[in-house]
This record gives sequence, structure tokens and C-alpha cells, in this order.
Amino acid sequence: MGHDQLDGDAGPELVPGRILVGAEQLAERVAQLGVEITVDYEGRSPLLVGVLKGAFMFMSDLSRVIDLPVEFDFMAVSSYGHSTRSSGVVRIVKDLDLDLAGRDVILVEDIVDSGLTLNYLRRNLLARNPASLEVCALLVREDHSIDEAILRYEGFRIPGEFVVGYGLDVDQRYRNLPDIRVVETASGAEAAEAS
Ligand code: IMP
Ligand code: MG
Repeated sequence: MGHDQLDGDAGPELVPGRILVGAEQLAERVAQLGVEITVDYEGRSPLLVGVLKGAFMFMSDLSRVIDLPVEFDFMAVSSYGHSTRSSGVVRIVKDLDLDLAGRDVILVEDIVDSGLTLNYLRRNLLARNPASLEVCALLVREDHSIDEAILRYEGFRIPGEFVVGYGLDVDQRYRNLPDIRVVETASGAEAAEAS
């Protein structure tokens, strides 16, 4: 899936439009995920691995509703080539500080779009011999193309519209919005489908 229409300096300015997932809905779902993780990892100290930058806000809120002695680490990746389309070839811009061997790792992602980034990251992290590796994604596209079994924890299934807010950006902006919004052009037309 690509976001070609949203790329480049030539196109119209993209701004946040209607709310797709409101702040209250986000808080409610994140709290539920926190309970699920707390129950599933009882007696253990999972290591939350956040994928920068998009997952920072979700991971911050999620960690506060997990009632376990969690640890944190972060990695930053960038997709080769296109700014908003994942090529599946991922470059690690910042690697983890901690050793994953024997750890119960929860990979925290903002959005699984095609799933190419997630597939790459899972392979990369599994090669470091964690005791377990699960995925917690805030948003998952309805038409993603990865194995459903990989998506252990997920917040919301969303259609193919490009979204911003709660950590997600368009051209590095709007990550600080408290809700998830569909982007539209400044003139009011919703941006083209993200496919
Ligand atoms: P994938 O490899 O196609 O699954 O792309 C995943 C990455 O693309 C996410 O981690 C985001 O950084 C970015 N992405 C995909 N869709 C959106 C969106 O609607 N808004 C902001 N970022 C997005
Ligand atoms: Mg991302």
C-alpha cells in the first residue's frame, strides 16, 4: 500500500481533519490493553520496545496502565526510498541499548499499514533470542498483509485513510494531537485513500 498522493512538496498542504478515534476512546482502549498485558505477563517483567517516533505517546500511556515492573527500550527505523510508503527495506537509525536474550519483549508500534516494517522488525528482534516476542500495535489497517496471529495486542482496526495525531505524523507534524484524525487538504477535501 502506498501513500504517493501525500508525498512531495508540490502537493496541497495536508492538515488534520475529522476525528477518527477520539481521546476518550483512545484512553479507554489503551487501559484495556494495559489490563490484558498485566494479566498475560503476571509475575514477569516485560521489556517494552517502542518504535520511534510514532509509538512514543502510545507507549507512554500504555506503560502507565500496565501494573508490572516493565522496562523500556526504543529503536528508530526509517524506510528506504519513499517518505510515506514502506518499501519493506528498513534501516535501523537507532538500535536498542538492552540485550534481548531471555527477555519477554513486547514490540510497541503506532500503526501496521502494509506490515512490511513489522515483518522486518520481528525478524530482526527474534534473531536476538528473546524468551518471547509479542506485538502491540495501536492501529492496524483493515487491508494489512501480514499473518493475523502476529498481532497479539491491537487497539483499533482502521480503513485506508492517512491519519495523524497521538504520535503519528504527516511530514513530522501533528504528533501532539490528543486524538487520531484523518488528514485532508487545507481546502477541506479529504486526502486520497492511503492505498
Ligand atoms: P508499513 O511498513 O506499511 O506497515 O508502514 C508502517 C509505518 O508507516 C508506520 O510505522 C508509520 O510510521 C507509517 N504510516 C503508515 N500509515 C500511516 C498513517 O496513516 N499516518 C502516519 N504514519 C503512517
Ligand atoms: Mg512508524
